[in-house]
Amino acid sequence: MKAFVTRVLPEEAMKIVRAGAEIVDVWPHELPPGREELLTKVADVEGLLCLLTDKIDADILSAAPRLKVVSQMAVGYDNIDVPACKSRGIAVGNTPGVLTETTADLAFALLLATARKIVEAEKFLRQGDWQTWSPMLLTGPDIHHATLGIVGMGSIGFEMARRAHGFEMEILYASTRQNSDAENHFGAKLVDLDTLLSSSDFVSLHTPLNATTRNLIGRRELALMKRTAILINSSRGPVIDQSALIKALEKGKLAGAGLDVFEQEPLPLSDPLLTLPNVVLLPHIGSASIATRTRMAVLAAENLVAGIQGKPLPNPIG
Ligand code: GLV
Repeated sequence: MKAFVTRVLPEEAMKIVRAGAEIVDVWPHELPPGREELLTKVADVEGLLCLLTDKIDADILSAAPRLKVVSQMAVGYDNIDVPACKSRGIAVGNTPGVLTETTADLAFALLLATARKIVEAEKFLRQGDWQTWSPMLLTGPDIHHATLGIVGMGSIGFEMARRAHGFEMEILYASTRQNSDAENHFGAKLVDLDTLLSSSDFVSLHTPLNATTRNLIGRRELALMKRTAILINSSRGPVIDQSALIKALEKGKLAGAGLDVFEQEPLPLSDPLLTLPNVVLLPHIGSASIATRTRMAVLAAENLVAGIQGKPLPNPIG
């Protein structure tokens, strides 16, 4: 049994892969394999362990006649054509659960940083602009007791609500399902998306990317938000219509945005977002704690090994 692993993983995970597959081919580079390389690499493998940067579509699957499992080291799997895998009898796994709190920590950090202008203030100090304490210098909105709208009350949204509750925020949520735990523990109120957008001081997105959530926040939705509101996205970039967001920020229709994800990643240095002062931009690091990334890699390795051995995956998709 042969496996292809598209990036070097922590040793704990590599040990599991080596113990479970006879031959292990690991892409040794910092950057992902290119399209042609991926097509070649999958030709004779039973297992593929990939990252969200690897597009696994029908062409890749057709180039991999022996493939039994696609194991993604991430919770989101919009880069994988899951129906195409299913129709070929290929199992698909992901790594939910282990990254929930770490990702919520980052989303809340982004909210704090954007509201309180942490990045702008640090830059201000470093470039020598700090001349005196001044009454309204670098002031932003309060976070405590403000209203947070959570779009998508899944497990990460729920942990975001827990953190917001600690700051005594009012919590609204829009979700495909009611979440009684969030209502009972944190006083979260289920509302429709338009109400959430028009009533919240902060809006944080926690939905997966799929056909219903692509461009969920577009021009119309941004126009519903308060001019003082701040939008946080740690889910997937295309959930927001990025050019509509840029226009809203430029015209002052929105106070700011904290973004960990983008329509195109890496974000090109020519992107207009980089010229805006009222945004905090991070390079997709939601789950990036040492412990969490290690747990994700281990789980992805376990999914891979189970799949190539024809066993049920610990974390199957679908
Ligand atoms: C990261 O974005 C993930 O989906 O795990």
